[in-house]
Amino acid sequence: MRLDKFLAETGRGTRTAVKKLVNAGKVKVNGEVVKDPAAKIDENKDEVSIDGEVIAYADLEYYMLNKPKGVISASRDKKSNTVCVTDLIKEKIRSDLFPVGRLDKDTEGLLIITNDGDLAHRMLSPKKHVDKTYFTELDGTLSKEAAERIMNGVDIGDEKPTLPCNINILSDRTCFITIHEGRYHEIKRMFQTEGLRVTGLKRISMGPISLDPELQSGEYRCLSEAEIELLKNFDKADKN
Ligand code: URA
Repeated sequence: MRLDKFLAETGRGTRTAVKKLVNAGKVKVNGEVVKDPAAKIDENKDEVSIDGEVIAYADLEYYMLNKPKGVISASRDKKSNTVCVTDLIKEKIRSDLFPVGRLDKDTEGLLIITNDGDLAHRMLSPKKHVDKTYFTELDGTLSKEAAERIMNGVDIGDEKPTLPCNINILSDRTCFITIHEGRYHEIKRMFQTEGLRVTGLKRISMGPISLDPELQSGEYRCLSEAEIELLKNFDKADKN
């Protein structure tokens, strides 16, 4: 890999900025100053440092974030100063992380953050129907009949009604809902068809991954090897 690509991918600045660093003699490879931004390095073996600080490398990174309310789940928008979910991952090595799917600004809970585009593509593919379960609070009573109607699929103003889903009523105004699609404001719009407003929404699982109950709002951790394996294999039995 080119030295400037390595430095940009590990978040040391834009390609132009890192070229300047290299030209200025601030970058060492295995202890030797290298002034050519196009120099080839082995990212898995060579030790690269800037002003003496050794730079860690990772090809792929996977995190589980308990997204807090009020943070947008886009990748970094360089033009605006709005805080987004990738800003919360303080120890990230790479600069190309993004969230797998989106949660509304006022939704909290499980968000997987990675730079594994292939995994994200498979998790978000409409064909895969990945289960997503949310704890939901409502501003009124959810009757069994209303829950049945929503579970059967409802017209929320899109081309097609929603796919059948599952609702587990917990109390008068709270339930778990598991959907298999990812439409814009989907759950809010589903309950709206019954005259109910969603007052709290928290994702607690996505496919084979459940939100770690130890993670407080805004906290994150790396996915374990076992969780990464689960994600890589979740659709192996799926013929789509
Ligand atoms: N459905 C919604 O309405 N909002 C979300 O953030 C996720 C699912």
